[in-house]
Amino acid sequence: MITRSLDYVEYCRETAKHALDPHDLALRGRDKKEVTKQVHQEIAAAVALGSGDDLVDIGCGDGTMLRIAESAGARTAIGLLATDEEVAVLRRSGLNAIQGLSDQLPLPDASATVIVCNSVLLVVPRERIPASLHEIYRVAKPDARILLGEIPGAEQHDPTPQFTTRRELLSHLYRKHGFRTWFGVLRRMAYRQLTGKPPLINSGTSISFWATPEEFIAMAQAAGLEPVRHWPCSHYPTRNSYVFRKPSGD
Ligand SMILES: C[S@@+](CC[C@H](N)C(=O)[O-])C[C@H]1O[C@@H](n2cnc3c(N)ncnc32)[C@H](O)[C@@H]1O
Repeated sequence: MITRSLDYVEYCRETAKHALDPHDLALRGRDKKEVTKQVHQEIAAAVALGSGDDLVDIGCGDGTMLRIAESAGARTAIGLLATDEEVAVLRRSGLNAIQGLSDQLPLPDASATVIVCNSVLLVVPRERIPASLHEIYRVAKPDARILLGEIPGAEQHDPTPQFTTRRELLSHLYRKHGFRTWFGVLRRMAYRQLTGKPPLINSGTSISFWATPEEFIAMAQAAGLEPVRHWPCSHYPTRNSYVFRKPSGD
């Protein structure tokens, strides 16, 4: 029987170790570069990112938002990534990235005028969401605009099928994702077998957190954030994106 790992941070680490292109870190799929660009252009418009802003992008993926901030004349733009392996990839492209998780941001209080956290909270374990929202509140300057994007409104079915044998899994991967993925998984399976560990797969497709808009807004309000608006995401209509504000008097 093949055990499935739900550890998304490990999935990010493995992806970075084998990345051929920084866009692999957006974890949307090789053919989705244009989608990544459009998603971030929409986010920049939603938070009116402009000159003089101090941007923090939590879970910044391939760094598209950091590049948009640079061309918009932002004063500073810093990206956080879950693992050192991802940080190394972005730093090689000249971007300002550091390792940090959403519930323990390695940043000073009141240091950002804009915070973006897109397609990240859905992979954060549910019990860490309140601490993540408190951290976002802490790092935001009064009046900061905050975009929390791609939160599923309901539990989602994991699209990766379950397999009982290595052979079934490998042939699925070959058909669906091609030689490179097939070979990468085969190599990791062989390594685990040689080191006496049980077979394990991490497809990176399972969702840890979802909430209806009412539930999510209530959680954000409990952390001190003020709701501005929310809408269904254009590329992922079962997910919602939200803009919040940190009250100016806080
Ligand atoms: C699906 S990618 C999204 C990338 C980018 N925000 C986008 O929309 O294209 C998920 C990102 O979340 C980061 N991540 C994963 N777990 C995290 C956690 N617990 N806290 C903060 N970031 C996390 C990963 O490093 C990765 O950059």
